[in-house]
Amino acid sequence: MHLLEFILDAIFILPAVALSITKNSTYTNPMLPGWHSDPSCIFVAEENNSFFCATSSFLTFPGMPIYTSSDLVNWRLSSHVFSRPSQVPQIGNTTVQNGGLWATTIRYHDGIFYAIVSYTPESPFVVTGFIFTTTDPYNDSAWSDPLVFPLIDIDPNLFWDDDGTTYIQFSGIHQQTIDLETGILGPASIIWTGFTKYIPEGPRMYKKDGYYYLMIAEGGTELGHHEAIARSTNIWGPYEGYSGNPILTNTNTSQYFQTVGHGELFQDASGNWWGSALATRSGPAWENYPMGRETVLFPVTWNEGEWPVLQPVRGQMSGWPLPPQTRAIPGSGPFVEDPDVIDFPPGSAIPPHFLYWRFPPEDAFTVSPQGHPNTLQLRPSKSNLTSSAPLTTIEELSLIMRVQTDTLFSFSIDVVSFEPKLQEEEVGVTAFLTQTQHLDLGIVLLPQNSSGSDGEVNLAPHLRFRVTNVPALKGDFSGTLPTIIKPLPESWLNAPIRLQVDAVNETHYALSAASSVEPSGNELMGIAPATILSGGDGEFTGTLVGVYATSNGGAGMTESYISRWRYQGKGQDINNGTFVPYTPFIG
Ligand SMILES: *[C@@H]1O[C@H](CO)[C@@H](O)[C@H](O)[C@H]1NC(C)=O
Ligand SMILES: *[C@@H]1O[C@H](CO)[C@@H](O)[C@H](O)[C@H]1NC(C)=O
Ligand SMILES: *[C@@H]1O[C@H](CO)[C@@H](O)[C@H](O)[C@H]1NC(C)=O
Ligand SMILES: *[C@@H]1O[C@H](CO)[C@@H](O)[C@H](O)[C@H]1NC(C)=O
Ligand SMILES: *[C@@H]1O[C@H](CO)[C@@H](O)[C@H](O)[C@H]1NC(C)=O
Ligand SMILES: *[C@@H]1O[C@H](CO)[C@@H](O)[C@H](O)[C@H]1NC(C)=O
Ligand SMILES: *[C@@H]1O[C@H](CO)[C@@H](O)[C@H](O)[C@H]1NC(C)=O
Ligand SMILES: *[C@@H]1O[C@H](CO)[C@@H](O)[C@H](O)[C@H]1NC(C)=O
Ligand SMILES: *[C@@H]1O[C@H](CO)[C@@H](O)[C@H](O)[C@H]1NC(C)=O
Repeated sequence: MHLLEFILDAIFILPAVALSITKNSTYTNPMLPGWHSDPSCIFVAEENNSFFCATSSFLTFPGMPIYTSSDLVNWRLSSHVFSRPSQVPQIGNTTVQNGGLWATTIRYHDGIFYAIVSYTPESPFVVTGFIFTTTDPYNDSAWSDPLVFPLIDIDPNLFWDDDGTTYIQFSGIHQQTIDLETGILGPASIIWTGFTKYIPEGPRMYKKDGYYYLMIAEGGTELGHHEAIARSTNIWGPYEGYSGNPILTNTNTSQYFQTVGHGELFQDASGNWWGSALATRSGPAWENYPMGRETVLFPVTWNEGEWPVLQPVRGQMSGWPLPPQTRAIPGSGPFVEDPDVIDFPPGSAIPPHFLYWRFPPEDAFTVSPQGHPNTLQLRPSKSNLTSSAPLTTIEELSLIMRVQTDTLFSFSIDVVSFEPKLQEEEVGVTAFLTQTQHLDLGIVLLPQNSSGSDGEVNLAPHLRFRVTNVPALKGDFSGTLPTIIKPLPESWLNAPIRLQVDAVNETHYALSAASSVEPSGNELMGIAPATILSGGDGEFTGTLVGVYATSNGGAGMTESYISRWRYQGKGQDINNGTFVPYTPFIG
């Protein structure tokens, strides 16, 4: 051994030891389980080395959720960029069930967070761009009103070059300069048409080692979805596609996670690269996927001057060491995988992860109103969850929900008080994909089977299990399920009534009712296949569970009061039958 070699060995022995101590991690996908589509994730050293992800909201309000994590495992809901109807009033009269706000991109530049998004009513396909800013991503109200500008196509990305010029890239793949003060756009040009040239979208621009790297999604967000990459020394191109494209895909595999795409790359505090993308837990059959498109995490190796190497997406992953687990993240929002234990105490607010379908009617929901402590008061909407969707314009629904975040779960509420007066007044629970695909179990006032002796119709409360699967727009289930109606047992009348939705297994939901004083006397009202909540009119979104109140088109105005809102995850399927249980954070 030469002396020099010996010295080098001696110098390098320490780091080598250190490296072997910091072992690679193992973790499971999805990173953000349940409907969290079109993720955009960044790392912000200036904000306590935190990671931030934005996901799509379509018609849900509040919209454009932002999640924060210090460890890429525990994700807290930090804010909604869109929390005031006046920011995007169009959502209130968007009828197409998959219209609305698609694919937020979050960026951080010079101390400011930016959220850029496209709005589309889907038909006509007229796209509008919105840019919001904040310096406080933990506060809904701190997000600005938007800068609004016309867009030729969807999925805008924001990129600042070193000379300060700001660009947007969007599907096509188009590029324009943008003035962030005025919204004035430069001329648009197509900078790359992609690897397969089929639906190039979701562009991301990275500047590294003297190259502009343009990573895009292609193939549509279905089974053919994948990521491809190109690079150029000039931001306007020409872009040279990578010979190893696609760089990320599960297409043509038997993997449980499919539709992988809409990716993003970012570094952690140690300089290691990671990526986020959307994926669907459907297997290649792609028929049963009620949670829709979810967010997954994968490690990336990106050596100087080389193309990035993205680890394929699986349920069980290993990669770079993860930062130490912690839940010390500002804000009061829930962590994505936490259960709900919500009793609506006086003075509390509606939980930040609760969602409406468009804007709710004014005063539809009140926490603990006078005389009804520890309840949520619901004022019924005239429209029910189906009504004349998707054809009518402005239709407000008294409907409040949360995302189904687990393959298996149990959701229930107690109807504490409901004294309906008119026929068809109803309060109930739902597993909801869109207004044309939902499973409902309600307490509803209906005529009794045995009319009075003088022929008058007696009304009485009933349990009604009713499935909506509008034939023309159906998802992956083509049948119809009969409505089931049963008189409410008289012995239940003097105590709260529990209405419950369970994913009993991966393919079926069960809706049941019980008296809260005797929960074991549970009345199973109906079972429905999860394929009703997969695809169809809701191919871009995922299942939500929650509560509704309606007069079903009638004149009824009776309020109902619910409480004891519970949601408990009971297992995530990470590989077609391999379940990981819900494990509470211990730290
Ligand atoms: C950053 O972390 C420190 C220490 O945990 C904490 O005191 C501070 O409030 C955090 N700041 C932000 C912006 O989260
Ligand atoms: C949709 O709603 C917005 C805000 O309420 C309103 O400005 C706009 O005119 C409405 N558009 C239509 C077509 O009704
Ligand atoms: C949230 O932002 C609003 C608007 O900027 C501000 O008035 C309010 O004080 C902020 N709240 C907190 C807790 O910082
Ligand atoms: C998947 O397989 C089909 C049929 O062999 C082929 O046409 C298609 O190009 C493949 N897709 C990808 C992304 O490899
Ligand atoms: C799960 O595996 C079974 C048995 O191999 C197969 O029939 C089924 O299609 C797979 N389902 C999914 C969703 O991958
Ligand atoms: C650690 O993970 C990285 C990223 O996936 C990978 O490149 C590397 O080979 C792994 N190291 C070991 C020792 O497994
Ligand atoms: C009326 O009685 C029949 C037979 O018992 C039952 O199937 C049906 O659900 C009842 N309808 C209502 C509205 O209670
Ligand atoms: C799932 O549950 C439904 C309803 O109980 C049942 O019919 C079906 O056989 C179950 N599927 C499996 C794979 O156990
Ligand atoms: C919804 O309400 C309409 C009346 O507005 C009624 O005709 C329809 O049966 C109801 N359907 C469902 C599934 O809620």
